[in-house]
Amino acid sequence: MASPDNVKRHPPSIVPYFAGFLLLSSIILFSSLSKPPSSSPAEEHLLAGHRASFSSSSCNYSAGAWIRSPESDPVTARYSYGSCREIFKGWNCVSKPNARDLLRYRWQPHDCRLPSFDPLRFLRRFRNTNIGFVGDSLNRNMFVSLVCTLRQVAKEVKKWRPAGADRGFTFVEYNVTVAYHRTNLLARYGSWSASASGGDLESLGYKQGYRVDVDVPEHTWMEAPMFHDIIIFNTGHWWWAPSKFDPIKSPMLIFEKGMPVLPPVTSEQGLDMTLKHMISYVEKRMRTNAVKFFRTQSPRHFERGDWNQGGSCRREQPLSTEQVEELFSLDKNGTNVEARLVNKHLFKALEGSSFQILDITHMSEFRADAHPSTTGGKKHEDCMHWCLPGLTDSWNDILVALLESMWTNQLS
Ligand SMILES: *[C@@H]1O[C@H](CO)[C@@H](O)[C@H](O)[C@H]1NC(C)=O
Ligand SMILES: *[C@@H]1O[C@H](CO)[C@@H](O)[C@H](O)[C@H]1NC(C)=O
Ligand SMILES: *[C@@H]1O[C@H](CO)[C@@H](O)[C@H](O)[C@H]1NC(C)=O
Repeated sequence: MASPDNVKRHPPSIVPYFAGFLLLSSIILFSSLSKPPSSSPAEEHLLAGHRASFSSSSCNYSAGAWIRSPESDPVTARYSYGSCREIFKGWNCVSKPNARDLLRYRWQPHDCRLPSFDPLRFLRRFRNTNIGFVGDSLNRNMFVSLVCTLRQVAKEVKKWRPAGADRGFTFVEYNVTVAYHRTNLLARYGSWSASASGGDLESLGYKQGYRVDVDVPEHTWMEAPMFHDIIIFNTGHWWWAPSKFDPIKSPMLIFEKGMPVLPPVTSEQGLDMTLKHMISYVEKRMRTNAVKFFRTQSPRHFERGDWNQGGSCRREQPLSTEQVEELFSLDKNGTNVEARLVNKHLFKALEGSSFQILDITHMSEFRADAHPSTTGGKKHEDCMHWCLPGLTDSWNDILVALLESMWTNQLS
């Protein structure tokens, strides 16, 4: 939250292709697996998941609706701001008018029930497992939701920075580690300015900008694929962040193999190149029985202007389907259009990979009511991150349901 860019643009979701990916990855993994019998129970479970056919859990967790629980029901938060110091002040919505109300909504997939998250069961089931979130502040928001949920039942928690992570926690009794690796673009980047001795970019008139090495992972997560058993990636917001990467004043300058790509390409093309290289980097390095997720873009809900134009999201109820289309459809090209745009790039890049898609975009598009909005007391409203407790708890519910279905399939 240090820079204004944090309040930027773009977030969202994906679940449809997921069955196909899984099937493909099960085939690939099944044929390449050769785990010694001494592998840990958790490893065996993960491993088993890949062997499972996806037919018995074909539920599309991302297709569903938000159901409001009756007023007579108590509102239950799985953790509170006071009980988990990982929650940023700006994500604490206790003073928001609809703070309790936003927790009244439960995500109900059309074709199955989404089990409620049982942290104790989770810790037991994933004993001896390392779980890494790699991405921008929206992945951090999801990471904090998971950590705060698990904290409620863990006695001994060790805070440390595994494998270059920004932060991480080990739930000691279960040897479950959850870490967050901060990276905005996945690829390494840094500021660039023209050299007095000239060069290709200089001769095209470039004076300054950001050099993005699309084939070099940022050091914050370079070691993560070797460390984690389950990993959840995201990127997107920063590729559409003109406040930092202004196309004129501070453009992204795409480099590959240490050289500028010529003629220069757009940041969207840079994203495609980055995804290609990073997916391959991860696939080459992770253990064959590891589980790799790519989370889809988290939607922003700026209305009547972007974040730096007085845009706001003072809604107290989820949007209707019509309102969602109005705000997000690609045809309308509205302020928050990048949510679905990013996903198009992701789906294309992930096709044929061994990654699974964690599709949270569409379900989140409804939740204009679940952002901090003015509660952070900042100059700009935050219509990008999510209140905690709140929406990203449901993202984790889906993550856990997917992980569990891999295991269950194997036992059945
Ligand atoms: C799952 O549901 C989402 C949201 O409605 C949809 O976009 C996606 O295509 C569905 N996936 C499959 C495999 O049908
Ligand atoms: C804890 O889990 C990690 C990841 O599976 C494993 O490498 C490590 O050996 C485990 N530690 C103990 C004490 O079991
Ligand atoms: C979408 O809108 C932005 C400005 O809001 C504009 O720069 C861009 O060209 C538009 N794109 C399309 C495809 O119309």
